[in-house]
Amino acid sequence: MAETNQAAWLKEAKQNFVIGPAEIGKPAKDEVLVRNHAIAINPVDHAQQSGIFPPGPLPRILGNDIAGEIIDVGEGVTQFRKGDRVLGHCTALNTDEAKHGGFQEYTVVPTVGCAAIPEDMKYEDACVLPLAISTAALGLFHKEQLGLRLPQAEQREPLTGDTEAVLIWGGSSSVGSAAIQLAVAAGYAVVTTSSPRNYILCKSLGANEVFDRASLSIVGDLTSAMQRYKFAGAFDAISTRDTQLNVAQVLAQLGGGRIALTLPVTPDIPATVDARMIYAAFILSQDKALGKEIYGDFLPAALKNGRIKPAPKSDVVGHGVEHIQAAVDKLRAGVSGSKVVVTL
Ligand SMILES: NC(=O)c1ccc[n+]([C@@H]2O[C@H](COP(=O)([O-])OP(=O)(O)OC[C@H]3O[C@@H](n4cnc5c(N)ncnc54)[C@H](OP(=O)(O)O)[C@@H]3O)[C@@H](O)[C@H]2O)c1
Repeated sequence: MAETNQAAWLKEAKQNFVIGPAEIGKPAKDEVLVRNHAIAINPVDHAQQSGIFPPGPLPRILGNDIAGEIIDVGEGVTQFRKGDRVLGHCTALNTDEAKHGGFQEYTVVPTVGCAAIPEDMKYEDACVLPLAISTAALGLFHKEQLGLRLPQAEQREPLTGDTEAVLIWGGSSSVGSAAIQLAVAAGYAVVTTSSPRNYILCKSLGANEVFDRASLSIVGDLTSAMQRYKFAGAFDAISTRDTQLNVAQVLAQLGGGRIALTLPVTPDIPATVDARMIYAAFILSQDKALGKEIYGDFLPAALKNGRIKPAPKSDVVGHGVEHIQAAVDKLRAGVSGSKVVVTL
């Protein structure tokens, strides 16, 4: 058992991380302790550091995405053993506990957000997935979001009758890449948007049609494309005011419908459109049944047979917790079709 654990602490809002020791957390019931080998950076991390999103009680350890090796298991854990290679969605946003933050060498992760990864999958690739998968899964499958049928790891039979399609705005983002893959694995066609340089990425994940998000004709392009399918729902992975209004206009022209959002609902959404925000950590607390379906039943097999690929590609900026600040700064400056990662 390891004796030291270094962490990137957020001690004060709007300040850089301070590297220092942290206790190695003890896994409680239905939790595992992971020796992190790679962590990914997410927009909420820089939003918490800069105070755009309330950071919660300080000092604290931020970070939502990890991949590594299980070191210890808590009471009631039978599905994982010491030595298992896993990816994990960390739950510090729910609990405010230091042991649950991702930006350290050892993190305690709830089993409901933990999935075994294949032997040949690198940790730096696997860690790009968890938060994006949780967000996309809630938006697509939670009953009060789009409520779509669940994904299957095995190839589905070709659908009969009208092909149903999901509109996913922002297919090259982390959340959008996960949403494309999950929707395809659930048997839906996908119409999406990105910058032209990321069309290949979106297509490689299974999108049927990709449109330039900056085109002046984007609302008409998406409306025409979606009219070729039966409408199943819309997912706005970006959810700025502009993207919400664009997606809402498409839906209004299709006769109305529901949009799952990653940020709060903007005013002026047309009355026929029902827009609802996702909160990803929900899958680790309120909707554990969906968490189990996705992390326990679907992901291990889907990662093994390639139905779910680590995407977008990882961009490793350094090795060691002392590189986390530079990694967060890099994400803050903007990324396109990549995920900023630190190996440990
Ligand atoms: N509510 C929740 O629980 C939750 C959970 C996770 C994330 N989020 C939020 O979801 C958003 C996306 O997160 P992420 O990690 O997926 O972001 P990300 O991967 O860092 O986003 C970068 C990508 O966004 C795309 N993009 C930027 N502006 C766009 C626009 N106007 N239209 C279409 N694509 C655009 C870029 O695509 P191109 O380069 O191809 O243009 C780029 O590839 C963030 O605001 C994040 O805070 C919320």
